Amino acid sequence: MDKTLLRWDETLFRDMEVFEIDYVPEQFHHREVQMVDLKFQIKPGLQGCRPLNTICRGLPGTGKTTSVQKIFSQIEEGTKKLIPIHVNCQIDNTKYAVFSQIYRKLAGHLPPATGTSFKQLFDAIARILLRDEAVLVVALDDANYLLYENEMNRVLYTLLRSHEAYPGTRIGVILIVSDMSIDLVHEVDPRVSSVLRPTEIYFPPYSPEEVYSILKERVLQGFYPGVLSDEMLGLAVEQTMQSGDLRVGIDLLKRAGLQAEHDARRKIEREDICKAYEISRYLHLDFTIRTLREEEKKLLAKLAELSSRETEMNAGEVFNAVKVDLTLGYTKFYEMIRKFDAMRIVNLHYRSGRGRTRLISLRYDPARIMERLK
Ligand SMILES: Nc1ncnc2c1ncn2[C@@H]1O[C@H](COP(=O)(O)OP(=O)(O)OP(=O)(O)O)[C@@H](O)[C@H]1O
Ligand SMILES: [Mg+2]
Repeated sequence: MDKTLLRWDETLFRDMEVFEIDYVPEQFHHREVQMVDLKFQIKPGLQGCRPLNTICRGLPGTGKTTSVQKIFSQIEEGTKKLIPIHVNCQIDNTKYAVFSQIYRKLAGHLPPATGTSFKQLFDAIARILLRDEAVLVVALDDANYLLYENEMNRVLYTLLRSHEAYPGTRIGVILIVSDMSIDLVHEVDPRVSSVLRPTEIYFPPYSPEEVYSILKERVLQGFYPGVLSDEMLGLAVEQTMQSGDLRVGIDLLKRAGLQAEHDARRKIEREDICKAYEISRYLHLDFTIRTLREEEKKLLAKLAELSSRETEMNAGEVFNAVKVDLTLGYTKFYEMIRKFDAMRIVNLHYRSGRGRTRLISLRYDPARIMERLK
């Protein structure tokens, strides 16, 4: 029997779980500064006071959600007097939904599906907080989803001014946003911003060295020794950096491992990684498209449409082609393009010559972008 081949009942994975999208890693490095800052913000809650309000901002895949979740589990292990609540605003994006999640955490079950008014819900929450003398810290993850329909103002107003309706209640918020262009403090009403006064914690993109060390940890935990050479890990890091999202790298490793296993090989090879990348890279596109606003989605659709004819597009010409449909000024248009560039959806570069021409090219197949926008 050929020893270089994997038997059908053998596997390259020591623990496949570590490559899952919702896996919370035990080792969590390179976010020490942000974690210290976050703890500082939350700390008054441990003394029964209101936690300081915080905005965590950074591009997709920079560890914002994980940092907050790590600190929340530490709080839960240590005390009952400060109750951390994580709300995914992509799913719960109305005032009622957010407060239902808070209620669920405090009461252990969701409020009845019908017949509970918001007032009753809030009464119940306040009663529990006052009875248990507990302080709340509420993380509104992907908070940009609350910006539509004015829900952001409603949610924040009610949370941050709870002590007016229910004296003695104390609630702090952590707003998590991956949209670098949103200026939350200016988006909310003055009566909200006067009580919000947040400190911003920035999550910079990981450097290639950091991505290398994070992926290396997963490889050591997830694969048996010898499955992935350092050279192949280097390739995976390169591709992760191209997409700018750590999630792509983690997903890519899993797919490459499965591919090698499928071909009964004991090692992951270049082809496995390249093939996996062709699928995993779209993960980043999926995550970023979900965070775009309606007008940005429209502009991206236009770019996809235009670039199926010409891959390198002149920014001025694109603007002329879209300005009527999208009712945009050039400044706003260019801001959106710069944002796409920062999100690594497009590549923005200059060609010198007569003046400096700005050129835009998509980083993804236009057809794939259109598919996702639908
Ligand atoms: N420093 C790190 N060490 C190990 N794994 C990490 C680290 N940072 C992020 N990850 C992993 O990368 C993935 C993305 O991280 P996370 O979900 O925290 O990012 P995010 O900033 O919340 O992104 P988004 O804005 O898209 O929600 C997760 O699977 C997480 O486990
Ligand atoms: Mg997140």
